[in-house]
Amino acid sequence: MAGETVKVQQRTENRKLKAFSDDEESHWNGPFCFIQAADTQLGLYDVHIRKFDEPDVTWSYEVTRTKMAIQAANRMSPRPRFFIVCGDLVNAFPGTVNREAQERDWHETFEELDDQIPLVCVCGNHDLGNTPTASTIQGYVRSFGTDDYFTFWCGGVYNIVLNSQFFEDPSQVQDLADAHLKWIDEQLAHAKSKAATHIFVFQHIPFFLESFDEAKQYFNLDNPFRLTMLDKFESAGVKAIFCGHYHRNGGGRYKGIEEVVTNAVGLSFGENEPSGLRVVNVYQDRFEHKYYPVTDIPLDPGLAEK
Ligand SMILES: [Fe+2]
Repeated sequence: MAGETVKVQQRTENRKLKAFSDDEESHWNGPFCFIQAADTQLGLYDVHIRKFDEPDVTWSYEVTRTKMAIQAANRMSPRPRFFIVCGDLVNAFPGTVNREAQERDWHETFEELDDQIPLVCVCGNHDLGNTPTASTIQGYVRSFGTDDYFTFWCGGVYNIVLNSQFFEDPSQVQDLADAHLKWIDEQLAHAKSKAATHIFVFQHIPFFLESFDEAKQYFNLDNPFRLTMLDKFESAGVKAIFCGHYHRNGGGRYKGIEEVVTNAVGLSFGENEPSGLRVVNVYQDRFEHKYYPVTDIPLDPGLAEK
């Protein structure tokens, strides 16, 4: 059963990541880096490129790239404080033929991540289903050992991990989606009351891909909901929203917020944009980030002050 192979470092309890303690991590303690990845999505290459029917699908394409990313993170010095995967951990939807095997191999792949680097999971549309239900959410929580939304402090930064399927299609889980929104307000108030050095948000589906006023399409979230949320985050002092789902790099600014859309670790849809991950360097007064193909991840994250 997948739950037995879940790394201790990725578990949550009461919507908090257990790997980080509030007492130790809620204060600024100097610059640090973390890894932001997205869409490991085991099985997508065979479905999307090779057009295989599900019984024939394999996922060595994605496992190979994910292992390259993990090995690079393990070698990095100074060590990344965490490795977050912004959704679509696997490609097979809940209840479909390859789902259990992909979950098992995903856990087995991440066994190689250094235990000193907490693994942070974000749920995506493939993880929960495009129209999530209470049952698919429970299945995800059981399999990945992590809540569908939660928070964690890291070095004075308050990190809020969201379930963007509630934003995309709450039709079967309206009560849970309402509770999620109420919880977000509470987290933003909490971050403010604790004078967080920065507030970062992580979710799978971006609010927008290039510009906050672009039209709704498959890879972004609807308006006017998009602007309602961006205004809420902006007035609460959120500095960045990190996302995936697009399988290309993207993002842009909305007032004081930077939205960062990161290409897949697994299959990239971008022309001349190999799959990879993003290194984020966090300073007291700012943050910087850079995307690297999995073949070209540096040993040194390039923190200006160590
Ligand atoms: Fe996705």
